[in-house]
Amino acid sequence: MSERKILVTSALPYANGPIHLGHLVEYIQTDIWVRFQKQRGNPCYFVCADDTHGTPIMLKADREGITPEQLIAKVGKEHLADFTEFGVAFDNYHSTHSEENRTFSSLIYERLRDAGHISSRTITQAFDPVKNMFLSDRFIKGECPKCGAHDQYGDSCEACGATYAPTELKNAVSTISGAKPVDKDSVHYFFNLADFTDMLRTWTSAGHLQPEVRNKLAEWLDGGLQQWDISRDAPYFGFEIPDAPGKYFYVWLDAPIGYMASFKNFCSKQNLNFDEFWAQDSSTELYHFIGKDIIYFHALFWPAMLSGAKFRTPTAIFAHGFLTVNGEKMSKSRGTFITARTYLDHLNPEYLRYYFAAKLSAGVDDIDLNFDDFSQRVNSDLVGKVVNIASRCSGFISKRFENTLSVNCSEPALFQEFINANVTIAEFYEAREFGKAMREIMALADKANQFIDEKKPWLIAKQEGNEAELHDVCSMGINLFRLLTGFLKPVIPALATEVEIFLNINPQVWPANTQALLNHKINDFKPLMTRVEADKIAAIIEASKENLEKTPDQQTQLPNIKAAIFEPIAESIQFDDFAKLDLRIAKIIKADHIDGSDKLLQLTVDIGDETRNIFAGIKSAYAPEALEGKLTLVIANLAPRKMRFGTSEGMVLAAGPGGKDIWILSPDEGAIAGMRVK
Ligand code: 2FM
Ligand code: ZN
Repeated sequence: MSERKILVTSALPYANGPIHLGHLVEYIQTDIWVRFQKQRGNPCYFVCADDTHGTPIMLKADREGITPEQLIAKVGKEHLADFTEFGVAFDNYHSTHSEENRTFSSLIYERLRDAGHISSRTITQAFDPVKNMFLSDRFIKGECPKCGAHDQYGDSCEACGATYAPTELKNAVSTISGAKPVDKDSVHYFFNLADFTDMLRTWTSAGHLQPEVRNKLAEWLDGGLQQWDISRDAPYFGFEIPDAPGKYFYVWLDAPIGYMASFKNFCSKQNLNFDEFWAQDSSTELYHFIGKDIIYFHALFWPAMLSGAKFRTPTAIFAHGFLTVNGEKMSKSRGTFITARTYLDHLNPEYLRYYFAAKLSAGVDDIDLNFDDFSQRVNSDLVGKVVNIASRCSGFISKRFENTLSVNCSEPALFQEFINANVTIAEFYEAREFGKAMREIMALADKANQFIDEKKPWLIAKQEGNEAELHDVCSMGINLFRLLTGFLKPVIPALATEVEIFLNINPQVWPANTQALLNHKINDFKPLMTRVEADKIAAIIEASKENLEKTPDQQTQLPNIKAAIFEPIAESIQFDDFAKLDLRIAKIIKADHIDGSDKLLQLTVDIGDETRNIFAGIKSAYAPEALEGKLTLVIANLAPRKMRFGTSEGMVLAAGPGGKDIWILSPDEGAIAGMRVK
């Protein structure tokens, strides 16, 4: 049988935010598959990188007062630390802001250009006259031209679903500076995707895609392929296009090339042959694990770019679904937008690896993390079924037999049944049917426990003269336990390693030919895994809610005022606590947009004896000019809070469900600035 050589990637995470549990579905899925291949003895390389280019990263660095290079270096380290602690073992983790990536991006572009697949033309786009930059749809907000909903992005309305051009938005503003966008012309470069229609029709139906993905692709191909805009104007954090000064490659052009760049970087360190994996006639396997939201980039643009630039195309693209938590989209206010770090602060990462494995299939269905189900499955399967076998048997081996296993394999048929199961389990792993693999393994664990239940070593131990039987039964239990952890090793590698230490064995290869351990000295058993504790889950959710309040005004985050007013009240306070509040009617003297914030306004308010600077998350409901002269209620004795934009010296109180419905007081309501409210 010829040896397989495999190169595997996970999608490159953006360097503008932390890794969260939604990301981890993919990295854990890929890592399990790669570990499985390695355990089977296949040369398999797993490479990834941070996806570092684009406007959001540039703006974020700007807001933090650092360079984009500093930002991506910091975030890259955090990402890698999170992955490592979750056991995601990349062979190489690189960055798209690397020399290798610059070289390959230029090379691919030049080959496409020379083959006639690049065109250029002038287009008109929204431009921020204050920041001097072009605005993509996501940086423009205004009122929906159809239903009038406020605070809608430049491409579509979240309230009524209408789609439109950013120029159609009413009262449009740049979310970066608050300025009114103007139209401006600029030359853009395009990749002529339609040149690859025939190639893509063949490729997408040649077994490289999951059936449901292939069907989606057929629809897109039938609809006709458009030119793809691959350039962006300065200022942009990315690579300048070789023959077009001032123009940069769009982040999605160089992101997948980052797979090649990371592998190239790995090859230099390991003395591997890059061309063996990427040349057009390569016989190696190349797999990209991705989320279903980025299929278009990976199953259309990417194979077309590779083929046009005379590189090999992927063997397969494996798309997965999204993660929901307790049946709903992850939500910051519900505390279910959980970062990898918050999880790691409280729980064993292998619980999550096992849970995801148990839920994953080869399809693109979403998977749900239900915390009750999570605890129940981990406790019942890993702790109750698997680890329990070792704890039931090891005590006797240690106390009665000096930690040495019996010279007999007393149940060879049972042992062989476990070994035989390796074929089916391997097929499930190979096909990414991890849920089915876990069920198969747990059915074996049930058998091992039944065997122990039937033999009742705790009774044998009390009988005189049955030492040999006790020794055989417990040794058999330990041998079955060893095979189970061998099968589970791709999923729970840290536990598998501890088991290898406990059993005093070499790292387990795939259990296809494993022999029973006979007359073999093992080490003292130490508890290998404890049950999931409910209070730890509560702590994760609480900490994830805190994130919301500690870091206001991130892109997907609710403004502070919302957390303060619209969240259900968690606990009651005493009257004395309430009496401490200095509540005052304040007059808004001045209201301004804030650079870089699409939720907050900066208010200058008169509270009677002084004026205060307050940041309030009410931009969704009010244009600054509409606020001047209005009255509002403020907490005047709130300790000042340092925020990214300055210090907030109080808090504005308002009522309403949020969005455009946030109400403050009008001047004609009989109140005057400085009045105390009690
Ligand atoms: O969707 C994302 O998060 C992108 N950063 C994925 C890039 S994958 C590859 F093309 F680089
Ligand atoms: Zn609308």
